[in-house]
Amino acid sequence: MTNDELLKEAFEARTHAYTPYSHFQVGAALLTEGGKVYHGCNIENAAFGPSICAERTAFFKAVYDGERKFEKIAIVGGSEGTDASRTCAPCGVCRQVMREFCDPETFTIILADGKDKWKEFTLKELLPLGFGPEDLMRGNIPE
Ligand code: THU
Repeated sequence: MTNDELLKEAFEARTHAYTPYSHFQVGAALLTEGGKVYHGCNIENAAFGPSICAERTAFFKAVYDGERKFEKIAIVGGSEGTDASRTCAPCGVCRQVMREFCDPETFTIILADGKDKWKEFTLKELLPLGFGPEDLMRGNIPE
């Protein structure tokens, strides 16, 4: 699936956002290595803390379904009533969730950048020197 196609899926996902508080609506489309697309939107909460970003919604839906290998994610965000064509970068918590399941060198993050345009980054570019599962497994046992 091309970046243009995945970005289109993210724009559709954004229409599902539940954002009565920030009115900032985000959509994400996550592509698995097997070619399936998982959609996510942000879902807010009156208690604020339980709110969840679009990216994590997409990841957790996929992980629940047993998916563990991911290729790329497209993200679009902007205030309600706008066309969300300005870049909306994933928050730090979402980057860390990506780090749990994705190879930092190859996993690609596609961000809308103007109308019908996008920029792409590797996870490593957006989360340099991240802490991942292998760091925890290694523990502090000397090699
Ligand atoms: N948000 C996302 O869903 N993803 C991001 O990458 C940035 C922020 C949401 C959280 C909240 O519902 C709203 O955007 C404003 O921060």
